[in-house]
Amino acid sequence: MNVILLNGSPRKRNTLAALNEFSVFLEKKGFKCNIINLCEAKIEPCLGCLACFDKGEEFCPHHDDVKHIVAQIDAADGVIFSSPVYAFHISVLLKNLLERISHIFHRPRFFGKAATSIVTQGIYGGNDSIKYLSFVEQMLGFKTVDGKVLMTIEPFTTKQKEKNSRALRKLADSYYEQITRERYPEPSICALTMFRTGRTKINNELNEKYRDYTYYRDKGWFTSDYYYPVKIGFVKKIYGSIVDLFSDQFTSSKQLYTTQNRSKIKS
Ligand SMILES: Cc1cc2nc3c(=O)[nH]c(=O)nc-3n(C[C@H](O)[C@H](O)[C@H](O)COP(=O)(O)O)c2cc1C
Repeated sequence: MNVILLNGSPRKRNTLAALNEFSVFLEKKGFKCNIINLCEAKIEPCLGCLACFDKGEEFCPHHDDVKHIVAQIDAADGVIFSSPVYAFHISVLLKNLLERISHIFHRPRFFGKAATSIVTQGIYGGNDSIKYLSFVEQMLGFKTVDGKVLMTIEPFTTKQKEKNSRALRKLADSYYEQITRERYPEPSICALTMFRTGRTKINNELNEKYRDYTYYRDKGWFTSDYYYPVKIGFVKKIYGSIVDLFSDQFTSSKQLYTTQNRSKIKS
């Protein structure tokens, strides 16, 4: 199994050391690990032009390493998102990459792959960062494992190093379990709600001029139970139909983001 480990630190120090140690644990379980240091990649900041959302990611005005990184994730079985805490949150390098792949939040694609996160911190901010990364991973389509925060306050004591090693070993175990578990699990109520409300909004408020619309239409997502073929229990089926009904009422009555006013916004 191939795993991509994204290092969001601008330097090759604590976060990279944690990823190297984590890779050793994963490699013992048979994984092939590939660390990508985002500080070595060319990733221009998002310009907010919406070309990726509206027309498709191939219309992004930037031609840099983002498409290579996404291609590597596409080819992998899983991803580890990792970052130091800088100013109480993830680093700008990792956030920059996430902004550049924001179209994937609209058109999730990493189904069947598992993700987790490793965050290094001095004192505070790691838990919020882990929570944020877990949410991001789910929105991109991954199965997730709650990440770990490692304390890296200097001077680094032997006791702290051992504690961090134990946390990484435990995370490797949970990650292995998740990645080898059922690839396409039945969605949770929350995931089902997000899918049903999102697709109704796209169906009601966009048309074939928009990539989100054509993507959903071509994947059959306007009529499917979920993003991927999966057996959904009776109660969730009924619940899904109710969500469809309510979200349809809501979007068609409110007309929050119609093609008409979207083009007004753009002009
Ligand atoms: C600019 C900067 C801002 C930081 N901000 C925080 C912070 O808000 N909270 C925290 O707990 N640690 C903070 N730290 C400490 C780092 O999170 C910690 O040292 C981390 O392990 C650094 O990882 P790295 O060596 O991979 O860059 C900061 C460090 C730097 C350089």
